[in-house]
Amino acid sequence: VIPALQGDATIIPIGRDTHDFSQPEKLEEVFASLRADWVVNCAAYTDVDTAEHNEALAHRVNCESALAIAQGVKRSGGRMIQLSTDYIFNGRGDHPYREDDPPDPICAYGRTKLAGETAVRSVLPEAIVLRTAWVYSKSKNNFVAAILERAMVNEEICVVDDEVGAPTWSVDVANAIKLLIGKNASGTFHFTNSGQTSRLDFAQAIISAARHARLDLKVKNVLPGNGESIRRPANRPKYTVLDTGKISSVLRCNPPHWKTSLETMLRS
Ligand SMILES: NC(=O)c1ccc[n+]([C@@H]2O[C@H](COP(=O)([O-])OP(=O)(O)OC[C@H]3O[C@@H](n4cnc5c(N)ncnc54)[C@H](OP(=O)(O)O)[C@@H]3O)[C@@H](O)[C@H]2O)c1
Repeated sequence: VIPALQGDATIIPIGRDTHDFSQPEKLEEVFASLRADWVVNCAAYTDVDTAEHNEALAHRVNCESALAIAQGVKRSGGRMIQLSTDYIFNGRGDHPYREDDPPDPICAYGRTKLAGETAVRSVLPEAIVLRTAWVYSKSKNNFVAAILERAMVNEEICVVDDEVGAPTWSVDVANAIKLLIGKNASGTFHFTNSGQTSRLDFAQAIISAARHARLDLKVKNVLPGNGESIRRPANRPKYTVLDTGKISSVLRCNPPHWKTSLETMLRS
């Protein structure tokens, strides 16, 4: 987000080095005294599996800190964007989720993120809640990086084939944030890259795009697994394609297709 906004605004990064978001007590004062025009809250407890056993901590970061930030932003008269997630839905649908579809999280991470949305909205009714999904970037901690790491050292890897969503490049999310700020928008929005795929097909596309970009991979087979065969502590929603019609109409442009963005990232 910072590179996307740099040049158009003075950016004040706030992160773990100076503030612990698991201790919300001081955050209201911090954000009130910043007097920022916009606060984009990307901080979150995002480890879906460990959140199952640490829901209180995840709640402090994802809800109580978001609430404290919103209270600070309200005092200073600024605007806020709260990042949220497809995991607020139960994933039992079969058509892209719209912003007003009823949330029903099935894991602790999703519950705490939904609580964060509600908390922010209760203080700042005009806040932007931006739900996105399956986000990857050049950094280490995401699905693309995990698949490439495994594909570099293993001949066979197993990937779930019963989760469907829309892979989304962080750069595209950041550009959407920039455009929403430019429009002075408010409300809840869904933003992902366009198209949809399963985790398995996504992994195969990552490997094929990486080979195209001349990365040296050892993998020969990508095997399908499912939620039962690959046991993980947290339940994942199976189908979380988000309908991006609302944001496309406000921004007057459609998100790039997920394959285009994946190839662009791997080439760059
Ligand atoms: N990745 C996805 O697929 C995805 C999908 C939908 C929505 N989202 C949402 O998008 C936003 C960004 O997610 P991301 O994927 O970029 O997650 P991420 O890589 O885990 O980043 C979360 C950030 O929050 C910081 N943070 C976590 N706990 C903190 C604490 N106690 N004190 C201070 N900072 C803390 C992390 O700092 P450290 O790096 O130091 O831990 C990190 O900078 C989140 O709101 C997430 O819910 C992500």
